[in-house]
Amino acid sequence: MPAGAVIHRATELWHVKGPVAGQSVSSTVRRGRLGDRFRFEAISDAGLAVDLSTGRILDVGEFAAVKARVGDADVVNHGDGVILPGFVDAHLHFPQLDAMGSHGKHLIQWLETYIFPAESRFADKSVARSTAARFTEELARNGVTTSVVFSSVHPVAADVLFDVFDRSGLRAVVGKTSMDVNAPAEVLLDWRADVAAQEVLIAKWHGRGGRLFYAVTPRFVLTSSREQMKALADLHARHPETYIQTHISECEGELRSVAEAFPAAKDYLSIYEDYGLINERTLLGHGVWLTDIERERIADLGATVVHCPTSNSFLGSGLIDLRKTCDAGVEVALGSDIGAGTSLSPWATMLEAYKLQALRGQPLEPEALLYLATLAGSEALHQDHMTGNLEPGKQGDFQVISFDAKPLLRERVARARNPRERLFATVVHGDDRVLDKLYVGGRCLRDSQSRS
Ligand code: GUN
Ligand code: ZN
Repeated sequence: MPAGAVIHRATELWHVKGPVAGQSVSSTVRRGRLGDRFRFEAISDAGLAVDLSTGRILDVGEFAAVKARVGDADVVNHGDGVILPGFVDAHLHFPQLDAMGSHGKHLIQWLETYIFPAESRFADKSVARSTAARFTEELARNGVTTSVVFSSVHPVAADVLFDVFDRSGLRAVVGKTSMDVNAPAEVLLDWRADVAAQEVLIAKWHGRGGRLFYAVTPRFVLTSSREQMKALADLHARHPETYIQTHISECEGELRSVAEAFPAAKDYLSIYEDYGLINERTLLGHGVWLTDIERERIADLGATVVHCPTSNSFLGSGLIDLRKTCDAGVEVALGSDIGAGTSLSPWATMLEAYKLQALRGQPLEPEALLYLATLAGSEALHQDHMTGNLEPGKQGDFQVISFDAKPLLRERVARARNPRERLFATVVHGDDRVLDKLYVGGRCLRDSQSRS
Protein backbone atom coordinates (compact mmCIF):
# COMPACT_ATOMS: atom_id res chain seq x y z
CA MET A 1 0.00 0.00 0.00
CA PRO A 2 1.42 3.46 -0.86
CA ALA A 3 1.79 5.74 2.16
CA GLY A 4 -1.30 7.87 2.47
CA ALA A 5 -3.69 5.75 0.42
CA VAL A 6 -7.37 6.18 1.23
CA ILE A 7 -10.32 4.10 0.09
CA HIS A 8 -13.57 6.00 -0.37
CA ARG A 9 -16.55 3.69 0.13
CA ALA A 10 -20.05 4.52 -1.10
CA THR A 11 -23.29 2.72 -1.85
CA GLU A 12 -22.80 3.25 -5.58
CA LEU A 13 -20.34 4.74 -8.08
CA TRP A 14 -21.25 6.02 -11.55
CA HIS A 15 -18.94 7.06 -14.37
CA VAL A 16 -18.46 6.66 -18.10
CA LYS A 17 -15.41 5.15 -19.72
CA GLY A 18 -14.08 5.29 -23.26
CA PRO A 19 -15.68 2.97 -25.83
CA VAL A 20 -12.68 0.67 -26.11
CA ALA A 21 -11.06 -0.66 -22.94
CA GLY A 22 -7.56 0.68 -22.41
CA GLN A 23 -7.63 3.13 -25.32
CA SER A 24 -7.36 6.89 -24.92
CA VAL A 25 -10.41 8.49 -26.48
CA SER A 26 -8.49 11.57 -27.64
CA SER A 27 -6.45 9.32 -29.89
CA THR A 28 -9.52 8.73 -32.04
CA VAL A 29 -9.54 11.77 -34.31
CA ARG A 30 -12.91 11.33 -35.91
CA ARG A 31 -15.80 10.00 -33.94
CA GLY A 32 -19.31 8.87 -34.71
CA ARG A 33 -22.62 8.58 -32.90
CA LEU A 34 -22.88 9.93 -29.37
CA GLY A 35 -23.95 6.54 -28.02
CA ASP A 36 -20.76 4.94 -29.37
CA ARG A 37 -18.42 7.32 -27.54
CA PHE A 38 -18.62 5.87 -24.02
CA ARG A 39 -19.57 2.96 -21.79
CA PHE A 40 -21.50 3.57 -18.56
CA GLU A 41 -20.24 1.78 -15.48
CA ALA A 42 -22.14 1.59 -12.19
CA ILE A 43 -20.62 -0.22 -9.22
CA SER A 44 -22.57 -1.15 -6.08
CA ASP A 45 -20.89 -0.95 -2.66
CA ALA A 46 -18.03 0.76 -4.42
CA GLY A 47 -14.47 1.47 -3.39
CA LEU A 48 -12.30 4.21 -4.88
CA ALA A 49 -8.69 4.12 -3.71
CA VAL A 50 -6.67 7.32 -4.02
CA ASP A 51 -2.96 7.87 -3.38
CA LEU A 52 -2.82 11.10 -1.42
CA SER A 53 0.82 11.77 -2.27
CA THR A 54 0.14 11.92 -6.03
CA GLY A 55 -3.61 12.61 -5.99
CA ARG A 56 -4.08 9.70 -8.38
CA ILE A 57 -6.65 6.95 -8.38
CA LEU A 58 -5.06 3.62 -7.46
CA ASP A 59 -8.03 1.34 -7.88
CA VAL A 60 -11.78 1.31 -8.39
CA GLY A 61 -14.30 -1.49 -8.07
CA GLU A 62 -16.34 -3.31 -5.46
CA PHE A 63 -15.20 -2.18 -2.06
CA ALA A 64 -14.22 -5.66 -0.84
CA ALA A 65 -12.12 -6.30 -3.94
CA VAL A 66 -10.43 -2.88 -3.79
CA LYS A 67 -9.71 -3.38 -0.09
CA ALA A 68 -8.18 -6.77 -0.79
CA ARG A 69 -6.03 -5.37 -3.59
CA VAL A 70 -4.95 -2.11 -1.97
CA GLY A 71 -4.44 -3.52 1.51
CA ASP A 72 -4.37 -1.67 4.77
CA ALA A 73 -5.57 1.80 3.70
CA ASP A 74 -7.72 4.19 5.67
CA VAL A 75 -11.39 3.99 4.71
CA VAL A 76 -13.64 7.02 4.35
CA ASN A 77 -17.19 5.74 4.48
CA HIS A 78 -19.68 7.88 2.56
CA GLY A 79 -22.62 5.70 3.60
CA ASP A 80 -25.60 6.14 1.26
CA GLY A 81 -23.66 8.55 -0.96
CA VAL A 82 -22.91 8.04 -4.63
CA ILE A 83 -19.44 8.75 -6.03
CA LEU A 84 -19.16 10.25 -9.51
CA PRO A 85 -16.50 12.23 -11.39
CA GLY A 86 -16.22 15.97 -10.97
CA PHE A 87 -18.12 17.83 -13.67
CA VAL A 88 -16.49 19.70 -16.55
CA ASP A 89 -18.23 22.97 -17.51
CA ALA A 90 -16.70 23.66 -20.93
CA HIS A 91 -18.04 27.20 -21.51
CA LEU A 92 -19.00 29.98 -19.10
CA HIS A 93 -18.38 33.67 -18.49
CA PHE A 94 -16.89 34.83 -15.18
CA PRO A 95 -17.88 38.54 -15.51
CA GLN A 96 -21.49 37.58 -16.21
CA LEU A 97 -22.08 35.91 -12.83
CA ASP A 98 -24.31 38.75 -11.64
CA ALA A 99 -25.94 39.33 -15.04
CA MET A 100 -27.78 35.98 -15.09
CA GLY A 101 -31.48 36.47 -15.61
CA SER A 102 -31.32 39.61 -17.75
CA HIS A 103 -34.70 39.71 -19.39
CA GLY A 104 -36.19 39.66 -22.82
CA LYS A 105 -33.54 40.09 -25.54
CA HIS A 106 -31.91 38.07 -28.28
CA LEU A 107 -28.13 37.72 -28.31
CA ILE A 108 -26.89 40.98 -29.85
CA GLN A 109 -29.34 43.24 -27.95
CA TRP A 110 -28.70 41.23 -24.76
CA LEU A 111 -24.94 41.82 -25.13
CA GLU A 112 -25.41 45.54 -25.77
CA THR A 113 -28.07 46.15 -23.13
CA TYR A 114 -26.82 44.06 -20.24
CA ILE A 115 -23.54 42.29 -20.82
CA PHE A 116 -21.11 44.92 -22.04
CA PRO A 117 -22.09 47.23 -19.13
CA ALA A 118 -21.78 44.30 -16.67
CA GLU A 119 -18.36 43.31 -18.01
CA SER A 120 -17.07 46.90 -17.96
CA ARG A 121 -17.09 46.72 -14.12
CA PHE A 122 -14.23 44.20 -14.29
CA ALA A 123 -11.66 46.88 -15.02
CA ASP A 124 -11.84 47.30 -11.24
CA LYS A 125 -9.61 44.79 -9.48
CA SER A 126 -11.72 44.72 -6.34
CA VAL A 127 -14.86 43.84 -8.34
CA ALA A 128 -12.91 41.09 -10.07
CA ARG A 129 -11.54 39.72 -6.80
CA SER A 130 -14.80 39.61 -4.87
CA THR A 131 -16.67 38.17 -7.87
CA ALA A 132 -13.95 35.57 -8.48
CA ALA A 133 -14.32 34.34 -4.91
CA ARG A 134 -18.06 33.87 -5.37
CA PHE A 135 -17.60 32.39 -8.84
CA THR A 136 -15.19 29.65 -7.73
CA GLU A 137 -17.36 29.00 -4.68
CA GLU A 138 -20.37 28.45 -6.98
CA LEU A 139 -18.39 26.08 -9.20
CA ALA A 140 -17.30 24.01 -6.21
CA ARG A 141 -20.78 23.88 -4.66
CA ASN A 142 -22.08 22.56 -7.99
CA GLY A 143 -19.49 19.80 -8.30
CA VAL A 144 -17.56 21.43 -11.16
CA THR A 145 -13.88 20.47 -10.85
CA THR A 146 -12.79 21.71 -14.30
CA SER A 147 -14.18 24.80 -16.00
CA VAL A 148 -13.37 26.62 -19.22
CA VAL A 149 -13.92 30.29 -18.61
CA PHE A 150 -14.17 33.58 -20.49
CA SER A 151 -12.93 36.45 -18.37
CA SER A 152 -13.55 40.08 -19.37
CA VAL A 153 -11.38 42.10 -21.75
CA HIS A 154 -9.39 43.52 -18.80
CA PRO A 155 -6.02 41.85 -18.10
CA VAL A 156 -6.36 42.49 -14.37
CA ALA A 157 -9.60 40.51 -14.13
CA ALA A 158 -8.09 37.42 -15.78
CA ASP A 159 -5.01 37.66 -13.54
CA VAL A 160 -7.18 37.86 -10.42
CA LEU A 161 -9.38 35.00 -11.58
CA PHE A 162 -6.34 32.77 -12.15
CA ASP A 163 -5.07 33.68 -8.70
CA VAL A 164 -8.38 32.80 -7.05
CA PHE A 165 -8.58 29.52 -9.00
CA ASP A 166 -5.02 28.74 -7.93
CA ARG A 167 -5.92 29.15 -4.27
CA SER A 168 -9.23 27.29 -4.66
CA GLY A 169 -7.62 23.99 -5.75
CA LEU A 170 -9.99 23.71 -8.73
CA ARG A 171 -8.85 23.08 -12.29
CA ALA A 172 -9.58 25.72 -14.92
CA VAL A 173 -8.87 27.00 -18.40
CA VAL A 174 -9.19 30.80 -18.44
CA GLY A 175 -8.99 33.28 -21.28
CA LYS A 176 -8.89 37.05 -21.29
CA THR A 177 -11.62 37.93 -23.78
CA SER A 178 -10.31 39.83 -26.79
CA MET A 179 -12.43 42.56 -28.39
CA ASP A 180 -11.30 45.68 -30.21
CA VAL A 181 -14.32 46.78 -32.27
CA ASN A 182 -18.11 47.10 -32.15
CA ALA A 183 -18.60 47.62 -28.42
CA PRO A 184 -18.29 50.43 -25.84
CA ALA A 185 -14.74 51.67 -25.20
CA GLU A 186 -14.79 50.25 -21.62
CA VAL A 187 -14.79 46.71 -23.02
CA LEU A 188 -12.34 47.18 -25.87
CA LEU A 189 -8.56 46.89 -25.90
CA ASP A 190 -6.23 47.71 -28.76
CA TRP A 191 -4.93 44.49 -30.30
CA ARG A 192 -1.28 45.26 -29.58
CA ALA A 193 -1.86 45.88 -25.87
CA ASP A 194 -4.19 42.89 -25.84
CA VAL A 195 -1.53 40.50 -27.12
CA ALA A 196 1.14 41.95 -24.84
CA ALA A 197 -1.12 41.40 -21.82
CA GLN A 198 -1.81 37.83 -22.87
CA GLU A 199 1.89 37.05 -23.21
CA VAL A 200 2.23 38.02 -19.55
CA LEU A 201 -0.79 35.93 -18.51
CA ILE A 202 0.44 32.89 -20.44
CA ALA A 203 3.93 33.13 -18.95
CA LYS A 204 2.52 33.49 -15.45
CA TRP A 205 -0.36 31.02 -15.43
CA HIS A 206 -0.40 28.51 -18.28
CA GLY A 207 0.38 25.09 -16.81
CA ARG A 208 0.51 26.38 -13.20
CA GLY A 209 0.31 23.45 -10.78
CA GLY A 210 -0.80 21.19 -13.63
CA ARG A 211 -4.28 22.58 -13.00
CA LEU A 212 -4.47 25.99 -14.72
CA PHE A 213 -4.30 26.66 -18.44
CA TYR A 214 -4.71 29.57 -20.82
CA ALA A 215 -7.17 29.95 -23.71
CA VAL A 216 -6.79 32.53 -26.47
CA THR A 217 -10.30 34.01 -26.50
CA PRO A 218 -11.64 36.10 -29.37
CA ARG A 219 -15.20 36.85 -28.19
CA PHE A 220 -16.60 36.24 -31.70
CA VAL A 221 -16.01 37.51 -35.22
CA LEU A 222 -18.14 40.63 -34.75
CA THR A 223 -15.98 42.15 -31.99
CA SER A 224 -12.47 41.59 -33.34
CA SER A 225 -10.74 43.52 -36.12
CA ARG A 226 -8.89 41.58 -38.78
CA GLU A 227 -5.63 42.75 -37.17
CA GLN A 228 -6.75 41.31 -33.85
CA MET A 229 -7.80 37.97 -35.37
CA LYS A 230 -4.42 37.65 -37.04
CA ALA A 231 -2.59 38.65 -33.84
CA LEU A 232 -4.54 36.05 -31.84
CA ALA A 233 -3.79 33.32 -34.35
CA ASP A 234 -0.10 34.28 -34.18
CA LEU A 235 -0.23 34.27 -30.38
CA HIS A 236 -1.67 30.75 -30.36
CA ALA A 237 0.93 29.66 -32.93
CA ARG A 238 3.66 30.92 -30.58
CA HIS A 239 2.04 28.98 -27.72
CA PRO A 240 0.43 25.96 -29.39
CA GLU A 241 -0.14 24.27 -26.04
CA THR A 242 -2.73 26.94 -25.13
CA TYR A 243 -6.39 26.53 -26.04
CA ILE A 244 -8.65 28.67 -28.25
CA GLN A 245 -12.24 29.43 -27.26
CA THR A 246 -14.87 31.52 -29.00
CA HIS A 247 -18.53 31.55 -30.12
CA ILE A 248 -20.02 30.44 -33.42
CA SER A 249 -23.44 30.26 -35.08
CA GLU A 250 -25.50 30.81 -31.96
CA CYS A 251 -28.60 32.50 -33.35
CA GLU A 252 -30.09 33.69 -36.63
CA GLY A 253 -29.72 37.43 -35.92
CA GLU A 254 -26.00 36.89 -35.35
CA LEU A 255 -25.71 34.96 -38.63
CA ARG A 256 -27.26 37.89 -40.49
CA SER A 257 -24.84 40.37 -38.88
CA VAL A 258 -21.88 38.13 -39.70
CA ALA A 259 -22.99 37.76 -43.33
CA GLU A 260 -23.26 41.57 -43.58
CA ALA A 261 -19.88 42.18 -41.96
CA PHE A 262 -18.08 39.49 -43.99
CA PRO A 263 -19.84 39.44 -47.37
CA ALA A 264 -16.98 37.58 -49.05
CA ALA A 265 -16.78 34.79 -46.45
CA LYS A 266 -17.80 31.31 -47.56
CA ASP A 267 -19.52 30.75 -44.21
CA TYR A 268 -19.13 31.63 -40.50
CA LEU A 269 -16.57 28.92 -39.77
CA SER A 270 -14.35 29.95 -42.68
CA ILE A 271 -13.68 33.31 -41.00
CA TYR A 272 -12.00 31.58 -38.06
CA GLU A 273 -10.49 28.92 -40.32
CA ASP A 274 -8.83 31.46 -42.59
CA TYR A 275 -6.92 32.83 -39.61
CA GLY A 276 -5.91 29.35 -38.47
CA LEU A 277 -8.01 29.49 -35.31
CA ILE A 278 -9.71 26.10 -35.70
CA ASN A 279 -7.78 23.07 -34.52
CA GLU A 280 -8.10 20.27 -31.98
CA ARG A 281 -7.54 22.70 -29.12
CA THR A 282 -10.44 24.95 -30.19
CA LEU A 283 -13.71 25.02 -28.24
CA LEU A 284 -16.59 26.58 -30.16
CA GLY A 285 -19.51 27.75 -28.03
CA HIS A 286 -22.99 26.92 -29.36
CA GLY A 287 -22.80 25.87 -33.04
CA VAL A 288 -26.60 25.78 -33.16
CA TRP A 289 -26.90 26.90 -36.78
CA LEU A 290 -23.86 25.23 -38.32
CA THR A 291 -24.33 23.85 -41.82
CA ASP A 292 -23.52 20.27 -42.79
CA ILE A 293 -20.33 21.34 -44.49
CA GLU A 294 -19.23 23.38 -41.45
CA ARG A 295 -19.83 20.37 -39.19
CA GLU A 296 -17.77 18.21 -41.55
CA ARG A 297 -14.87 20.65 -41.41
CA ILE A 298 -15.03 21.02 -37.63
CA ALA A 299 -14.90 17.22 -37.35
CA ASP A 300 -11.96 17.04 -39.75
CA LEU A 301 -10.05 19.71 -37.83
CA GLY A 302 -10.81 18.04 -34.47
CA ALA A 303 -12.39 21.08 -32.77
CA THR A 304 -15.17 20.77 -30.20
CA VAL A 305 -18.66 22.26 -30.22
CA VAL A 306 -19.73 23.17 -26.69
CA HIS A 307 -23.47 22.81 -26.38
CA CYS A 308 -24.98 25.34 -23.96
CA PRO A 309 -28.63 24.33 -23.64
CA THR A 310 -29.93 26.63 -20.88
CA SER A 311 -28.42 29.58 -22.76
CA ASN A 312 -29.94 28.49 -26.08
CA SER A 313 -33.44 28.29 -24.62
CA PHE A 314 -33.08 31.42 -22.45
CA LEU A 315 -31.96 33.68 -25.31
CA GLY A 316 -34.25 31.90 -27.76
CA SER A 317 -31.20 31.10 -29.88
CA GLY A 318 -32.38 27.82 -31.33
CA LEU A 319 -32.51 24.06 -31.03
CA ILE A 320 -29.21 22.39 -31.92
CA ASP A 321 -29.43 19.06 -33.72
CA LEU A 322 -27.07 17.10 -31.48
CA ARG A 323 -27.56 13.89 -33.38
CA LYS A 324 -26.50 15.47 -36.65
CA THR A 325 -23.59 17.22 -34.93
CA CYS A 326 -22.31 13.97 -33.43
CA ASP A 327 -23.04 11.85 -36.49
CA ALA A 328 -20.83 14.24 -38.47
CA GLY A 329 -18.01 13.22 -36.12
CA VAL A 330 -17.86 16.50 -34.18
CA GLU A 331 -16.68 16.34 -30.58
CA VAL A 332 -19.35 17.78 -28.30
CA ALA A 333 -19.05 18.93 -24.69
CA LEU A 334 -21.45 20.75 -22.35
CA GLY A 335 -21.37 24.29 -20.97
CA SER A 336 -23.55 26.36 -18.67
CA ASP A 337 -22.71 29.59 -20.56
CA ILE A 338 -23.75 31.74 -17.63
CA GLY A 339 -24.88 34.61 -17.75
CA ALA A 340 -27.01 33.63 -20.78
CA GLY A 341 -27.26 30.21 -19.18
CA THR A 342 -29.58 30.07 -16.22
CA SER A 343 -27.76 27.77 -13.82
CA LEU A 344 -24.24 26.82 -12.79
CA SER A 345 -25.48 23.35 -11.90
CA PRO A 346 -24.46 20.74 -14.48
CA TRP A 347 -27.56 18.81 -13.39
CA ALA A 348 -29.67 21.70 -14.74
CA THR A 349 -27.53 21.86 -17.88
CA MET A 350 -27.98 18.12 -18.46
CA LEU A 351 -31.72 18.37 -17.93
CA GLU A 352 -32.03 21.22 -20.42
CA ALA A 353 -29.94 19.27 -22.96
CA TYR A 354 -32.35 16.39 -22.50
CA LYS A 355 -35.39 18.64 -22.97
CA LEU A 356 -34.06 20.39 -26.08
CA GLN A 357 -33.36 17.09 -27.81
CA ALA A 358 -36.73 15.75 -26.59
CA LEU A 359 -38.29 18.68 -28.47
CA ARG A 360 -36.57 17.30 -31.56
CA GLY A 361 -37.96 13.85 -30.79
CA GLN A 362 -34.47 12.64 -29.83
CA PRO A 363 -34.30 12.48 -26.01
CA LEU A 364 -30.76 11.81 -24.76
CA GLU A 365 -29.93 8.75 -22.67
CA PRO A 366 -29.02 9.41 -19.01
CA GLU A 367 -25.57 7.92 -19.60
CA ALA A 368 -25.02 10.24 -22.58
CA LEU A 369 -25.84 13.22 -20.36
CA LEU A 370 -23.28 12.08 -17.77
CA TYR A 371 -20.72 11.57 -20.56
CA LEU A 372 -21.31 15.09 -21.88
CA ALA A 373 -20.95 16.63 -18.40
CA THR A 374 -17.74 14.75 -17.54
CA LEU A 375 -15.51 12.79 -19.92
CA ALA A 376 -16.53 14.71 -23.06
CA GLY A 377 -15.21 17.95 -21.54
CA SER A 378 -11.94 16.29 -20.56
CA GLU A 379 -11.60 14.89 -24.08
CA ALA A 380 -12.21 18.32 -25.60
CA LEU A 381 -9.30 19.61 -23.50
CA HIS A 382 -7.13 16.53 -24.17
CA GLN A 383 -7.07 16.07 -20.44
CA ASP A 384 -8.83 12.70 -20.44
CA HIS A 385 -5.58 10.99 -19.45
CA MET A 386 -5.99 12.97 -16.22
CA THR A 387 -9.69 13.62 -15.54
CA GLY A 388 -13.21 12.85 -16.78
CA ASN A 389 -13.80 9.51 -15.09
CA LEU A 390 -12.55 7.37 -12.23
CA GLU A 391 -10.14 5.01 -13.90
CA PRO A 392 -6.90 4.08 -12.12
CA GLY A 393 -4.02 6.41 -12.98
CA LYS A 394 -6.24 9.47 -13.36
CA GLN A 395 -6.43 12.27 -10.85
CA GLY A 396 -8.86 11.78 -7.97
CA ASP A 397 -11.38 14.41 -9.12
CA PHE A 398 -14.71 13.25 -7.80
CA GLN A 399 -17.83 14.23 -5.94
CA VAL A 400 -19.97 12.43 -3.44
CA ILE A 401 -23.65 13.19 -3.76
CA SER A 402 -26.49 12.47 -1.36
CA PHE A 403 -30.17 12.08 -2.22
CA ASP A 404 -31.23 13.06 1.29
CA ALA A 405 -30.97 16.82 0.75
CA LYS A 406 -34.06 16.78 -1.49
CA PRO A 407 -37.11 14.83 -0.30
CA LEU A 408 -38.55 14.49 -3.81
CA LEU A 409 -35.27 13.07 -5.10
CA ARG A 410 -34.93 10.71 -2.13
CA GLU A 411 -38.40 9.27 -2.77
CA ARG A 412 -37.91 9.09 -6.53
CA VAL A 413 -34.59 7.30 -6.15
CA ALA A 414 -36.10 4.84 -3.70
CA ARG A 415 -38.47 3.79 -6.49
CA ALA A 416 -35.80 3.61 -9.20
CA ARG A 417 -35.01 0.11 -10.41
CA ASN A 418 -31.40 0.50 -11.49
CA PRO A 419 -28.47 2.96 -11.59
CA ARG A 420 -29.49 4.60 -14.86
CA GLU A 421 -32.93 5.39 -13.42
CA ARG A 422 -31.27 6.80 -10.30
CA LEU A 423 -28.95 8.84 -12.51
CA PHE A 424 -31.82 10.26 -14.54
CA ALA A 425 -33.84 11.06 -11.41
CA THR A 426 -30.81 13.05 -10.23
CA VAL A 427 -30.61 14.85 -13.58
CA VAL A 428 -34.22 15.93 -13.10
CA HIS A 429 -34.11 16.80 -9.39
CA GLY A 430 -30.43 17.54 -8.83
CA ASP A 431 -28.93 20.90 -7.92
CA ASP A 432 -26.22 22.22 -5.60
CA ARG A 433 -28.00 20.69 -2.59
CA VAL A 434 -27.11 17.14 -3.65
CA LEU A 435 -23.36 17.73 -3.35
CA ASP A 436 -21.97 16.28 -0.15
CA LYS A 437 -18.20 16.37 -0.78
CA LEU A 438 -15.92 17.49 -3.58
CA TYR A 439 -12.36 16.26 -4.22
CA VAL A 440 -9.69 17.39 -6.66
CA GLY A 441 -6.54 15.31 -6.89
CA GLY A 442 -7.76 13.37 -3.87
CA ARG A 443 -7.95 16.51 -1.72
CA CYS A 444 -11.30 17.43 -0.20
CA LEU A 445 -12.16 20.97 -1.29
CA ARG A 446 -15.70 21.06 -0.04
CA ASP A 447 -17.59 19.25 2.68
CA SER A 448 -21.25 20.08 3.16
CA GLN A 449 -21.15 18.67 6.72
CA SER A 450 -18.64 21.28 7.80
CA ARG A 451 -20.08 24.08 5.68
CA SER A 452 -21.17 27.20 7.51
N1 GUN B 1 -21.52 35.67 -28.35
C1 GUN B 1 -20.59 36.63 -28.17
N2 GUN B 1 -20.47 36.92 -26.84
C2 GUN B 1 -21.32 36.13 -26.19
C3 GUN B 1 -21.64 35.98 -24.80
O1 GUN B 1 -21.11 36.63 -23.91
N3 GUN B 1 -22.60 35.05 -24.50
C4 GUN B 1 -23.20 34.29 -25.47
N4 GUN B 1 -24.13 33.43 -25.11
N5 GUN B 1 -22.92 34.44 -26.77
C5 GUN B 1 -21.98 35.34 -27.12
ZN1 ZN C 1 -20.64 32.19 -24.16
